Amino acid sequence: MEAPINPWSSQQTDDIEKLFSLFGIEHISAIEGILPKVPSFISRGVVVGHRDYRVIAEAIRDKRPFHILTGFMPSGHPHLGHLMVMKEVVWHVQQGGSGYITIADREAHAVRDISWQQCEHFGKEYLQCLFALGYRGRTYFQSRNNALKDLAFEAATRVNFSELQAIYGFSDETSLAHAESVITQVADILFPQVDSYPAPTLVPVGIDQDPHIRLTRGIAHKLRMFTVEERDGYISVRSKNAPEEALAEVHRKFPGSRKYQGHVDIPRAGCAEVNAEVRKIEIAHGGYGFYTPSSTYHRFIPGLQGGKMSSSIPESTITFSEPDDVVRKKVMGAFTGGRATLAEQKELGGEPEKCPVFLLNLFHMVEDDAELAEIHRRCRGGELMCGQCKKETTERVLAFIHDFREKMEASAHMVKVE
Ligand code: TRP
Ligand code: SF4
Repeated sequence: MEAPINPWSSQQTDDIEKLFSLFGIEHISAIEGILPKVPSFISRGVVVGHRDYRVIAEAIRDKRPFHILTGFMPSGHPHLGHLMVMKEVVWHVQQGGSGYITIADREAHAVRDISWQQCEHFGKEYLQCLFALGYRGRTYFQSRNNALKDLAFEAATRVNFSELQAIYGFSDETSLAHAESVITQVADILFPQVDSYPAPTLVPVGIDQDPHIRLTRGIAHKLRMFTVEERDGYISVRSKNAPEEALAEVHRKFPGSRKYQGHVDIPRAGCAEVNAEVRKIEIAHGGYGFYTPSSTYHRFIPGLQGGKMSSSIPESTITFSEPDDVVRKKVMGAFTGGRATLAEQKELGGEPEKCPVFLLNLFHMVEDDAELAEIHRRCRGGELMCGQCKKETTERVLAFIHDFREKMEASAHMVKVE
């Protein structure tokens, strides 16, 4: 059982861990004890890192409200590479999260030069996939959401160009629309808290999106009126830009507290309770009361031919509208972790951790852990040959796609362009 649960080569794991420690991302394993049930995308080592996922795990455990939001850039057809993050969203909705999906058409138009018509076409396909997987919740297109645009403008008051340059490497040639698409993504991530109510918000993404997460966490903090800090024996509520009257109200709310220039110190209080009251006071005075958003980071499924999986490399992936014979050809022609000759493979066994076919099964095609472990064992032991394995995988992929296509058709009526 051990191996398929963490099937990744230690090389890749080392690389990821270096990246994490560089940016202060934590390993997800610390959280597993909090979640009442651990989803397979965590137990199989696909979702590996997080920022502040603890507050989300606790909200799930304690049945308290939280939001779950992610976004898709409609620059091409959705394909196998997009399924993981979609499943992560659906699972969190099923655990009680309030769902939000943004179709990043402003980003696709500004950064990839996709026409609005194409954005709408691809955007609808993404939404159809999500609903087919069981997603329930709000969806919107960036370009059609005026409250989002207002929030983006407000967020923009807290960023300057040198920051964008430092984070994204923007140059003198970067278009203003590109910068706008960045601040629109910041607004996306904060939007659920404005649209409904302030609550912990989870944003599942790939590591490539972490710059947006870091920028947004900074801005969420800057848009707060207060900070609440735990000191030795007391809690200090500090005003950053709160109206005087709001600080006075914090003082009144906690008998025994002391009010100073710019801060109120509260002895013998619980941090959580103070946080909750301060947030209420902030909102009553026109503030946002944002929770700093949390994030998770997943590994990417490799392309079928070994490299990156991307819609710009058609043979690397499978879309959901491809004919059976094309699907068959792609899987049968995939790169594997097999050996140069059959004899060698029988003797040494294959290398599933390097094998796109194995990882396709691990990510999406085999739900049963025992069945996956059996494939892993037979491959390692030289019992399973790649030709046979690919044949079996092809059948699973075809069955999956046929079923998925039916579900997509059945959920077409849920897709809204708004
Ligand atoms: N930038 C993301 C991408 O390239 C799409 C996106 C837009 C997004 N807004 C978001 C992702 C908010 C997560 C959260 O795919
Ligand atoms: Fe990959 Fe299957 Fe070959 Fe093993 S037997 S290397 S899992 S294709």
